[in-house]
Amino acid sequence: MNEYLRTALRAAQAAAQIHRRNVGGDLGIQTKTTETDLVTRVDKESEAKIREIVLGAYPDHTVLGEEEGRGSTSEASHRWIVDPLDGTLNYAHGFPFYCVSIGLEIEGELEVGVVLDSFRNELFTAVKGEGATMNGAPIEVSSEEVLRSAMLATGFPYNSETASDNIEVFARMMHRSRAIRRPGAAALDLCYVACGRLDGFWDLKLNAWDVAAGVLIVREAGGRTSGPNGEVYNVEDKVIVSSNGVLHDALLEGLELGTASQ
Ligand code: IPD
Ligand code: CA
Ligand code: CA
Repeated sequence: MNEYLRTALRAAQAAAQIHRRNVGGDLGIQTKTTETDLVTRVDKESEAKIREIVLGAYPDHTVLGEEEGRGSTSEASHRWIVDPLDGTLNYAHGFPFYCVSIGLEIEGELEVGVVLDSFRNELFTAVKGEGATMNGAPIEVSSEEVLRSAMLATGFPYNSETASDNIEVFARMMHRSRAIRRPGAAALDLCYVACGRLDGFWDLKLNAWDVAAGVLIVREAGGRTSGPNGEVYNVEDKVIVSSNGVLHDALLEGLELGTASQ
């Protein structure tokens, strides 16, 4: 097994254990940028554990994590991009849809991605050029070609202004697709595109840690991820559109995101 994948798995499993151990306990909830943007003790402990494992194995690598930041590309050739708990709001409310997400970029290229659903113990992985797996078995995207028959998902940021922009898009897409879900953990949403449970996904304001692993998992499962106009997607971009590939142009057309800010 790829050495970096092995380390990512070890770190993800340690974080998932922290998630499980603290379910229903005192989470020490605090707010961050807005009243709905929460951080718990579990987010912080999970990130600290992941940093300990990754930097313990590779002291000259850098880590960009949601809670502690840091990790610019200029610092090191290997950058780990970590969301220690994606779906914090779900977690805090006992809604079972949350995960840990760990991606590794080498010289700016996504090479390894691991997303672990800590409630279901569903593990999604990808290594560049080697395909994507769910619980060890290869996965691939759906073959849906018709937007009107597609099952999509999206998310809403904690900032209400950008959330309202997406409400307009959401309303439009309600009439153009079969159904839209808003599960609340972007990394898992991307994995659901990768394994065909969803045909497409979009969001207007995500961060690198939400998507780094998921983007590689979708790509390795045969799907496509782009910016609002079909341009190549970079993990620093805010607007993301992801799909099974065959549906991509129809999805972009339906979303009408041409003017969405990056
Ligand atoms: C959030 C989730 C959610 C998305 C938000 C993210 P967090 O991450 O991925 O699905 O809509 O924009 O911030 O805060 O739970 O790690
Ligand atoms: Ca997140
Ligand atoms: Ca998070």
